[in-house]
Amino acid sequence: MGKVILVASGKGGTGKSTSAAALACALTELGRKVVCLDADAELRNLDLCLGLSDCAVMDYGDVLAGRCSIADALTPSREYPALSLLAAPLEPAEGCAEALIPALTQDFDYCLLDCPGGLSAASQWAPWADLALVVAATDPCSQRDAARAAQVLDEHGLHTARLLINRVSRRFLRSAQATLDDTIDSVGLQLIGYVPEDQSVALALAMGKPLLTLSRRGAAAAFRRIARRLDGQSVPLRR
Ligand SMILES: Nc1ncnc2c1ncn2[C@@H]1O[C@H](COP(=O)(O)OP(=O)(O)O)[C@@H](O)[C@H]1O
Ligand SMILES: [Mg+2]
Repeated sequence: MGKVILVASGKGGTGKSTSAAALACALTELGRKVVCLDADAELRNLDLCLGLSDCAVMDYGDVLAGRCSIADALTPSREYPALSLLAAPLEPAEGCAEALIPALTQDFDYCLLDCPGGLSAASQWAPWADLALVVAATDPCSQRDAARAAQVLDEHGLHTARLLINRVSRRFLRSAQATLDDTIDSVGLQLIGYVPEDQSVALALAMGKPLLTLSRRGAAAAFRRIARRLDGQSVPLRR
């Protein structure tokens, strides 16, 4: 049975889609078979982060409507043979999780769910996930919203959550006289890793390529370390 990882945040724009895509690529580099499901039906952009912009012909709305099978709705990655995207329909659909997750976990080692910002998706997907990655930046709004998201996920039965701190800027932390520990304390979750602010994230998007195909340093290196931790390896945290 594959593992279902829900990538969530309270605040929008913290880097959920970036993280879900990069971790999916990194997990396939470790030999795993991975599906990335866009659970953000209204603002879907996971395809962009995977270098699959507008490649999806079918989505899971088509599966739910009986127009195709799950296998037909998967869009394979060009760069990562063991990675597929399951695209979202334009309109949010009811009953997605129960229709999709049991089948996906039969076929894939990891199913990464890229959730919308806010708390609305929690009730739908949380009961089906094994682990939540709560993505937050180091600013106070992001921290407070991440703490609330973790609480709501817990209320919906997802009790295992880790904090991924994204867009870390040493310069900002110095100016704000803040540390990563402040963010960890404020959110109240165990840290799975932090990812630096890195221009190659925007560059990869602009080039239509997955981040990990462009870089071995910075954010790409951080996501690779986090993927190894997710996959059960012991990888020391670098502060
Ligand atoms: N580590 C990073 N360094 C620089 N830019 C980043 C980083 N992570 C995300 N971004 C940028 O932040 C914006 C929001 O990221 P995205 O993954 O779409 O967030 P979300 O899915 O949470 O709304 C995008 O423009 C993305 O390129
Ligand atoms: Mg997103």
